[in-house]
Amino acid sequence: MSLRQKDLATAWRILSYGFPYWRRILAVLLLFSIYGAAQSLRVALIPILVDGVLIPGGTGEKSRALGLYEQVASWLGVSTVVPRTYRQEFPFDEIELSGTRIDGPDHALILTDGRIERIVPPAHQLWVGMFQELRFARIRFSPEVAARAEGRPGGRIVIRGGGTATCSLGESADDSKRREYLIAFAIIGAILSVVLGITDYFKEYLNRSLAFFITVDLRRDVFASLTRQSVGFFDRQRSGDLISRLTNDVGAVQLFTTMFFSSFLEEPIAIILIVAVALYFAPTLTLIALPIMFLLVLPVVRSGKRVKKHGRGSLEKLGIVTEAIHQLFSGIRIVKAFDMEGHEREAFDRKNRHYIRESLKMVKAKVTGVALLEFLYNLVIALAVAGGGYLVLSRLVAIQLGDFAAFMAAMATVYRPLKAVTRALNTLQESLGGGDRVFQILDARPEIADAPDAIDIYGVRDGIVFDGLHFSYRSDGDERWVLQDVSFEARMGETIAIVGPSGAGKTTLVDLIPRFYECRRGVISIDGIDVRRITQRSLLRQIAIVGQEPFLFNTSVRENLRYGREDATPEAIEDAARLAFIHDVVAALPEGYDTEIGERGVMLSGGERQRLTIARAILKDAPILILDEATSALDANSERLVQGALENLMRNRLTFVIAHRLSTISRATRIMVLESGRIVEQGTHEVLLAANGVYATLHRMQSQQLAGQGEGQRAPA
Ligand SMILES: Nc1ncnc2c1ncn2[C@@H]1O[C@H](COP(=O)(O)OP(=O)(O)OP(=O)(O)O)[C@@H](O)[C@H]1O
Ligand SMILES: [Mg+2]
Repeated sequence: MSLRQKDLATAWRILSYGFPYWRRILAVLLLFSIYGAAQSLRVALIPILVDGVLIPGGTGEKSRALGLYEQVASWLGVSTVVPRTYRQEFPFDEIELSGTRIDGPDHALILTDGRIERIVPPAHQLWVGMFQELRFARIRFSPEVAARAEGRPGGRIVIRGGGTATCSLGESADDSKRREYLIAFAIIGAILSVVLGITDYFKEYLNRSLAFFITVDLRRDVFASLTRQSVGFFDRQRSGDLISRLTNDVGAVQLFTTMFFSSFLEEPIAIILIVAVALYFAPTLTLIALPIMFLLVLPVVRSGKRVKKHGRGSLEKLGIVTEAIHQLFSGIRIVKAFDMEGHEREAFDRKNRHYIRESLKMVKAKVTGVALLEFLYNLVIALAVAGGGYLVLSRLVAIQLGDFAAFMAAMATVYRPLKAVTRALNTLQESLGGGDRVFQILDARPEIADAPDAIDIYGVRDGIVFDGLHFSYRSDGDERWVLQDVSFEARMGETIAIVGPSGAGKTTLVDLIPRFYECRRGVISIDGIDVRRITQRSLLRQIAIVGQEPFLFNTSVRENLRYGREDATPEAIEDAARLAFIHDVVAALPEGYDTEIGERGVMLSGGERQRLTIARAILKDAPILILDEATSALDANSERLVQGALENLMRNRLTFVIAHRLSTISRATRIMVLESGRIVEQGTHEVLLAANGVYATLHRMQSQQLAGQGEGQRAPA
């Protein structure tokens, strides 16, 4: 079997998402049972039609089915005349029928005392066990006997031969009785149809809604798990693949849950009930057929492993396709600018082909199993008819016609649920591949999580101490340090400028404060508390960041500004916008603060975006402010204005400013010069100029540039 323990564990985990909906599950189970019962009742109806309407006969031994109905009818207080047949073997050479009724293939006769004129073919051994055989023996009567036979139902049959056997046939079902049976058959059939229709509606609705609830909950958990992951996690993952897992893979799981409740609960219930009917009516035949039927499922189960492998592969490839779409959207300008549309299309085609190839392999594995089942099952049905017929004919199994019909109907009916179960076994494999991929995210332990004894902090009193920081983006022990032995103190009220060449590690350094990444060695402490002992929520509440790449959400200006300060009043929002010199721009937008600004704020200019992110940080009103190239996209004039506004804001806070334009940071209380991850100089602007080191060189170069451009903007003096 290809269902391994791990698969079962995955399946169980998916299903455990259904536990909160146990009431729904119980209702579904109840409906499944009702549906299954109605279905098997329909099978059990067939003997009424066969024994009661089509071939009603004399009396004798009852067929099991009719015996059951007689019983039920008597419980219900309904009087029934159930046609009976008897089975006894007699050697004979003459049959005398009296007062009984025989349905012939071309005539029905009722005899008073008739002598059989001729039997075609000449039979020497007549088995009267099935009434039909009497008919097939073609007993012919002379016409005058027929005439005399009119109108006398009921009577005796006398068989003469090596001794005389006499059987009382009692009352037989007449035409009105047959009509009654036919009507009963139709009414019960109609009632069953109504029951089947109604339960089908509710069971399908409940079952499918259950699958939706489970997948929505699962997706919610995966999303929640993603929000808990550190920034480093997202650096390593492909976002398109993550999106694909949240949509396509979760979709595959949904397929599983739908399938599970219908195929692994409903169909087995149906199978059990139908088999029960067959067992009751035709125990021997059913016991012979049953093991063969279930052996049929095995080849399908065997193909499951390949289905899982390729199903998973197919979802992975679909992840790559999604990733490509995602990339195109975010990079459309570059694609166009570099005239790479054709290249992108080709690359996309290639990825799609990989996806198709993998999917087709899965489909092939899947249909192989199902087609094999289709073939084998129909073969078995044919064999069952022939074999069952043989057993009956050769009298190895004694069975009445109606019972046999019910058995055959059961065999035909049980096929659909059996096929559904085997199909579901395959789908299960396919979905489990998706389930595994989903649980991978769910199980990804956040690299940065609250320590068990983490505490909340409320505000910052003294400042931040960086002590012997070492940091590397690689977690595999490869110590290519991006930051090395960074130590300094930053007190509240200070403005710390961080300067240095591109790639020196400036952004990295400030990213360590909110714990976007965890330093590998050394400690960052706020008011003497190691940041690793502070809850992330309370830590982040103390920090407002204007990042190097301004990010805005695809919603209104107001929503963007309120981000992180849901309770901000409209006045507070406007004040913040004014401070960031963006209010006038926003006011001029078609819908003012309610204007939607598009994905990442594409409907605004780079500088406007930057000022909005500054306004957002101002509104957050946190004690620690991080400005990473926050004003780089502004012209010199707006920068000066924003700078002035920010200075008011910085007064009682601790601010980290990263800037390439040294003019921006001239008023910083301290300047840290970072080079290749090390602090090479620190001090005020004046001190550093006097030291005539790296900073002085940088400063000189920028001043010359500006002078060369002949611009009015002076380097800080
Ligand atoms: N997410 C990341 N994963 C791996 N390496 C990174 C990552 N981010 C940055 N780096 C590397 O770390 C080094 C420092 O990057 P950082 O962004 O801190 O530089 P920076 O001083 O802010 O530069 P810039 O002035 O250009 O913004 C660089 O060599 C960069 O290639
Ligand atoms: Mg940077």
